[in-house]
Amino acid sequence: MLEYQEVTMPAKKKIALVAHDHKKAELVEWEERNARLVPDVKEAGYTLEVKIDGAAVSLTYEDGVFATGATRGNGVEGETMIKLSRLGSATFETTDLDRAIAYYTDVNGLVLGARESGRAFLASKTGLLAITLEQGGEAKLKRLAFEVSPSADFADLARKLSADGVQSELRSDAVPGVGKVLAFDDPNGTTIELFKDWKYLGSHHQVFGAGPLKVGHVACVANDPKAMADFYCRVLGFRVSDWVEDVAVFLRCNPDHHTVNFFRGPKPGMHHIAFEMKDFAHIQNACELLGQRKMPINWGPVRHGPGHNVAIYHRNADDQLVEFYIELDQMKDENLGYFDPRPWHHDTPQRPKTWDRKAALNIWGPLPMPDYLR
Ligand SMILES: [Fe+2]
Repeated sequence: MLEYQEVTMPAKKKIALVAHDHKKAELVEWEERNARLVPDVKEAGYTLEVKIDGAAVSLTYEDGVFATGATRGNGVEGETMIKLSRLGSATFETTDLDRAIAYYTDVNGLVLGARESGRAFLASKTGLLAITLEQGGEAKLKRLAFEVSPSADFADLARKLSADGVQSELRSDAVPGVGKVLAFDDPNGTTIELFKDWKYLGSHHQVFGAGPLKVGHVACVANDPKAMADFYCRVLGFRVSDWVEDVAVFLRCNPDHHTVNFFRGPKPGMHHIAFEMKDFAHIQNACELLGQRKMPINWGPVRHGPGHNVAIYHRNADDQLVEFYIELDQMKDENLGYFDPRPWHHDTPQRPKTWDRKAALNIWGPLPMPDYLR
């Protein structure tokens, strides 16, 4: 059984079923019935479409970009196809497994939950699997794992994906605590894994290093961010949180302002991975730790425009950018359509929008170091 996400049809785009009312009198009666519920139906006009095999889908585009796809539901509250709950973990290929493990345990502050030949599994201090490392020929992001509802049916999900032109396969990668996953590639070549069965890798771990609360988002470079936004929204039910002109897009699958984001660039791949910290003191401790280790902070602390997260960036043992952040905007109620009001918002309320490039980078001012930009 699929777990659907409820969505609300835009005003004046309610879907109604004409069903088998063929005669004029029946249609007039049908309209009168609807007018008692929504008086403006008589002036709103109609779009008639052939009903195919009992299915009707409403596709909404905003500024030319797909925003929502929904079934009819009850005519107002429809249902999207797939709902992701959270980013579970990221899998990286690394050229030096021991060096990468040392970074993630001693500096980042994860716990080595399990290790086997050529692979390592690192958990946050809460015991959630956050990073999987695989020995290989180059340092790169390979897979992102997203949790779906425990009641989700992988066969149903595979059919939905196939209907969207996405071929998937059920895999068992024998990741500790994680059951089977449904795997497919996004247009950037990153493998997406959907999982539902998982167990904690221990709990309340004492950690060295910074010790983030969770892996929060992954930013990637893509040739065409609009195409990536379309894929993640159309196929996986993401919503657009913000654009920066036409060069960056931020997408949410839960209250977090973004769980994936894409920057326009010529070389597709990961831009940075971000971990959530507890508060600014936690960020400060991370700054001290990086300073002690002579690992430069190459941007920050900043307060970004889109998402308003306070963040610092450094490079890990594989020369990949890592962000520690706090205070990411939250949209706790999708029906309201704005992010929880915060004193640092300039817009009241703060709704998804397109930002000017200069305003978006850092509300506090300072721009990134050259090491961040390379
Ligand atoms: Fe980020």
